Amino acid sequence: MRVLVLGSGGREHALSWALARSPSVDEVICAPGSDGIGLDVSCEKVDPSDRQAVLALARRLGAGLVVVGPEDPLVGGLADTLGEAGVPVFGPSGRAARLEGSKSFAKDFMRRHGIPTAESRVFDDPEAAERHVREDGGPIVVKADGLAAGKGVTVCDGPESALAAIGEVMRERRFGDAGARVVLEERLYGEEASYYAICDGTRFVALGAAQDHKPALDGDRGENTGGMGAYSPTPAVDPEVERRVVERVVAPAVAGLRAEGHPYRGVLFCGLMLRGGEPKVIEFNVRFGDPETQPLLMRLRSDLLPLLAGAAEGRLPERHELDLGDPAVCVVLASPGYPRSYPRGIEIEGLDEAGAFPGVKIFHAGTSRDGGRWRTAGGRVLGVTASGPTLRKARDRAYRAVERIRFEGVQFRTDIAARGLAAN
Ligand code: AMP
Ligand code: GLY
Repeated sequence: MRVLVLGSGGREHALSWALARSPSVDEVICAPGSDGIGLDVSCEKVDPSDRQAVLALARRLGAGLVVVGPEDPLVGGLADTLGEAGVPVFGPSGRAARLEGSKSFAKDFMRRHGIPTAESRVFDDPEAAERHVREDGGPIVVKADGLAAGKGVTVCDGPESALAAIGEVMRERRFGDAGARVVLEERLYGEEASYYAICDGTRFVALGAAQDHKPALDGDRGENTGGMGAYSPTPAVDPEVERRVVERVVAPAVAGLRAEGHPYRGVLFCGLMLRGGEPKVIEFNVRFGDPETQPLLMRLRSDLLPLLAGAAEGRLPERHELDLGDPAVCVVLASPGYPRSYPRGIEIEGLDEAGAFPGVKIFHAGTSRDGGRWRTAGGRVLGVTASGPTLRKARDRAYRAVERIRFEGVQFRTDIAARGLAAN
């Protein structure tokens, strides 16, 4: 089978790489892909948000499956377009993708189905939002309602920072129309983890848990980013916590969407806050996490294709035991200035040397190649990923590879997986 993967980041590199290893896949094509993804699979310069162009490409390739990486095309209805044309697609319909596309929709959905989450209120008017913040007086989280590349959330200690965040989102429109509406939410405390389930509309297969590191700086300081590193598995999600997550979050979400007429096919990514082992949902995403996918897929020993194709076609087996191997850690190397503005075109050295270490795979997130030289081309540049017999070994391997890679102003966290190691 030929599989078309859509997207161009580290997540799509990992998906393409994992699918290319599947014995049932003849060829993986990634669109638009990137120079780095092109090291492993072939790429086609087609924009994933151009639905007709994607459909034409899928037909031309005779793709047996289209795997959608990012959320924007899904929220825009790409899976509907492909599905109606008879092309099997891994990724939910536009209606189901509102779970990520609108935070207020997600909050209402969780309330309707008794899924545990933080208390929240929705505001369309900045003055009303500001009044609420002043009256509340406590720690609060300000969220742009629409899509903001994972950066539309500000966690605030008190009213002052919350007011500043409302100003940025609603008045200055840092995230454009995504900030026409905000969700103001009770701040939750505890340990964060993400949990993944592959769903076929009715059934699901649990893919397991990972822990992301969203803040830019060590010790979870600094601004929120798309994710500076991740590891899997995480001791925060032990078998008992996993049972609760499946029972209280995944199962009611899948059943709820089905009951509301929007069966969910794709990966359901549950962003969780855990306190005393009790999960609350911070957010749902309708696609794989980036960079969590890099360590998750590095661990996966089972064939990825039957899982994704089974979900796409609504025929996951009743029982599907996954084989997840050694722990894995991904350290993101980012451009100077990220998550704000950053330069491009900085030369990167040491990639070959770093990638040659045992158990290491370098996923490209934002690079380009001119001649024999690699250069930076995005905020997150590389996801240096390693597996090992223990989490500590995986972490050490990843950082040993990181040390070999140099570019001017490179920023990365030195404490990826530290929480997992401390808990062991
Ligand atoms: P989101 O884009 O909704 O995942 O939010 C980004 C990050 O903000 C999350 O990964 C959390 O670290 C943090 N966050 C979001 N909502 C809350 C909350 N209610 N309490 C504490 N932290 C939160
Ligand atoms: N790493 C978090 C996300 O993909 O949203």
